[in-house]
Amino acid sequence: MITAKNSLAGVAPYAPGRPISEIKRKYGLEHVVKLASNENPLGASPKAKEAVKKAAEDVFLYPDPNSYNLRTALAGHHGLSPEQFVFGTGSDGLIELICKTFLGEGDESIMPAPSFSLYALNVLATGAKPVEVSLDENFQYSPLAMLPYVTDRTKVIWLCNPNNPTGGIFSEKEQTEFLERVPENILVVIDEAYYEYACHAEEYPDSLAQLKTRKNVLILRTFSKIYGLAGLRVGYGMGNSAVISEMEKTRPPFNVCSPAQAAAEASLSDCEFVNRSISENRKNLAFLESAFTSMGLSFVKSYTNFIAVNTGKDSKTVYERLLELGYIVKGGHVLGMPGYLRVTVGTREECEGCVIALKKVLEELD
Ligand SMILES: Cc1ncc(COP(=O)(O)O)c(C=O)c1O
Repeated sequence: MITAKNSLAGVAPYAPGRPISEIKRKYGLEHVVKLASNENPLGASPKAKEAVKKAAEDVFLYPDPNSYNLRTALAGHHGLSPEQFVFGTGSDGLIELICKTFLGEGDESIMPAPSFSLYALNVLATGAKPVEVSLDENFQYSPLAMLPYVTDRTKVIWLCNPNNPTGGIFSEKEQTEFLERVPENILVVIDEAYYEYACHAEEYPDSLAQLKTRKNVLILRTFSKIYGLAGLRVGYGMGNSAVISEMEKTRPPFNVCSPAQAAAEASLSDCEFVNRSISENRKNLAFLESAFTSMGLSFVKSYTNFIAVNTGKDSKTVYERLLELGYIVKGGHVLGMPGYLRVTVGTREECEGCVIALKKVLEELD
């Protein structure tokens, strides 16, 4: 039998949120709501959809390997130079690229746990060793907690802020103190996939400001979440141009397709859409929090478009029963949070429906 490399023995593949079409087929349902992958329930900006239609004319050509227009727009947006950007097939693609570029057998890479599971998976695929640092009993962590695990083999440290699947954040003070203490030859990746939902919190770090003085910081952002472009797969990294140049050695040249480049660029200019998405999310997150409270369920305070709620039951059973009722969420059993569900904040109607379904399931299991 042909087997994957030794470092992948016993590794379970990433467990993505199930697609709506699959659940409709499997359970013979007409109406299915997906609250499993933290997509934007408002869809994408009309400007982005228009840009995709226009870009369709040129799909017979390879995309611009340098994403010039998007790069220029982002450089203006963030006040950085164009050489400070690297693009990926979603930030998933960048996580893979970081591992491929900076890690190999014998190296170590530190990360919080539970966190986004693709860090550990991609580290393992290079033959390096993931070093997981557990969150505290309230599912929070400080980057400072990573420091005792640093060895002379440590090459990359992952920080996820806000953290997925918990939704919490660490503060500017904690981040700065950590960056001052971490050795400069270690790359610190700060994954800010949910930045736009969290950045209004007073204590949320201004990571971009760190790029002015530090060469070992790489910030990841994505167009999959607030910008509603998950299906197009485009994410970007911002860092020192020397780090970016190293990543260019392993980046597949055409890893961001033309419609994705065009849609991402158009999305950036639609502030109205972003602001509306933030305000809808805030209202519907508050609705979920108050519904869970009235059901006597505890949850982790969220700075994102998802919320981790403690069902007090076996999360696999609750997850599977919700699927039968047409609600796709993520079960804590695949996220390192047994008993919990991670629920994406949908539209009000979707959230109301999910709460009704969850009440029904929990009553059945009582
Ligand atoms: C923390 C975090 N990072 C990265 C990603 C990957 O996002 P994408 O590849 O769609 O940009 C996700 C997706 O859920 C995430 O939650």
